[in-house]
Amino acid sequence: MFKAHNILIVDDEKSILFSLKAVLTKENYNVKTASDAREALKLLEPGAFQVIISDYNMPAMNGMEFLRGVKSIDSEAIFIFMTAYGSEKLAIEAMKEGAYDYFSKPFDIDEMRLVVAKACERFNLAWQKKNLEERFLVEPSQDRIIGLSPSTKLVKERIEQVAKSDITVLIQGESGTGKELVAEAIQRKSGRATGPFVKLNCAALPENLIESELFGYERGAFTGATARKRGKFEVADGGTIFLDEIGDMALNTQAKVLRAIQEREVERLGGNETIKVDVRIIAATHKDLKSLISEGKFREDLFYRINVVNVAIAPLRERPDDIPELVEHFVAIAAGKVGRKISGVSPRVMTALKNFKWPGNVRQLQNIIEGAAVFAKGDILELENLSEEIRFGFAPETQISSLEWVAGEIEKGRSLDEVVAEIEREMIMRTIAATAGNQSAAATKLGIKRGTLQYKMKMYNLV
Ligand SMILES: Nc1ncnc2c1ncn2[C@@H]1O[C@H](COP(=O)(O)OP(=O)(O)OP(=O)(O)O)[C@@H](O)[C@H]1O
Ligand SMILES: [Mg+2]
Repeated sequence: MFKAHNILIVDDEKSILFSLKAVLTKENYNVKTASDAREALKLLEPGAFQVIISDYNMPAMNGMEFLRGVKSIDSEAIFIFMTAYGSEKLAIEAMKEGAYDYFSKPFDIDEMRLVVAKACERFNLAWQKKNLEERFLVEPSQDRIIGLSPSTKLVKERIEQVAKSDITVLIQGESGTGKELVAEAIQRKSGRATGPFVKLNCAALPENLIESELFGYERGAFTGATARKRGKFEVADGGTIFLDEIGDMALNTQAKVLRAIQEREVERLGGNETIKVDVRIIAATHKDLKSLISEGKFREDLFYRINVVNVAIAPLRERPDDIPELVEHFVAIAAGKVGRKISGVSPRVMTALKNFKWPGNVRQLQNIIEGAAVFAKGDILELENLSEEIRFGFAPETQISSLEWVAGEIEKGRSLDEVVAEIEREMIMRTIAATAGNQSAAATKLGIKRGTLQYKMKMYNLV
């Protein structure tokens, strides 16, 4: 925080400079003086002075021009004018241009001191507010979109491109891919960041409730409507409305939403007043809207209204490059939740995670890591901490696919024993996966004793 403020005084009358400087220095301000506007502008740089006190009528440049010059260099400095008695009108004009206050000459010392103190306070407030806003704009790591794969980079670029405009965005992706996260990021980076972000899950409510949620209702609109209620569109005024799972919206509701989007106006149920709203629309769905259109379940005109910009999030299995960074992120969150130090996952776990099919995408990955953290003994998550589903849920197409692979590994200098052991381990994993974890069945399939299978699974770190 500013303890001592830097003040610049500008006047062509030496005696004024002298006396003002004396008074303000006594008040613990750092004071500099300049005898005309040009000289003053030379002293200016952003942040150099918090308060500038200037005469209005100066020979080389008048007060208004000087004010504009100052604002172009340092828009945060607080500007105070001194005017000759009787010409206050000019000072008031200047206040419209961004000057903060004025006092007239000859000045009353107490009045002058008060004006300067108030100006400093104003500066502090603006400074605090700006700092708060900056802090607010820094993304908390919990909300950050993690991932280094080309497809995630593209999504992040898209967010940057669309955030600043009010353009309607449709986010598509399987369940758990991060659609809501993307919607929130767009809002946070938009000019509406300080406005409301209102979510509505269209899949979670029956048709009549969705409509009263979206548009609100008047008292008496239906049985139970005992008081007027504002709808989500109204509540989102000045901000963003997030229509989640829009593919699940009933056709009737779609027609009404289409109108609201086109006209940017709504009517409450049971009301006849039209209410203008200023909202940005972001919609999301895990469904294929084009096929819903061909089945007659989604309005084509609504599709074109919402699909102005499309952000498609790839399923996690198509971007395994994101997994290491996501794992690191979720391990840190999980460690916080279980209250223990966990620094990462073993290489085997990483391989298992990279090869899993992830039907539940990123959300499932987060859940798996948090589950494993509960069972972890050391500070590294091991294979045995993972559920069987993941441990044995390998994609069948691993590297080990041919004799050429074996030859290649031998060529690289690995021993035959090592390579054979890797093949054995892989075959055991595949068989266990194929028998859904049934060890007797797996042993029979492999033509070995159950005891032998168990011994080998231990040896290969599969239990
Ligand atoms: N790229 C990512 N970086 C960090 N966290 C992510 C990422 N993608 C998803 N998540 C996290 O995964 C979880 C699921 O994300 P989100 O709810 O946004 O998905 P969704 O697509 O809306 O899912 P659903 O269709 O099930 O509603 C959240 O906890 C979210 O923070
Ligand atoms: Mg969602």
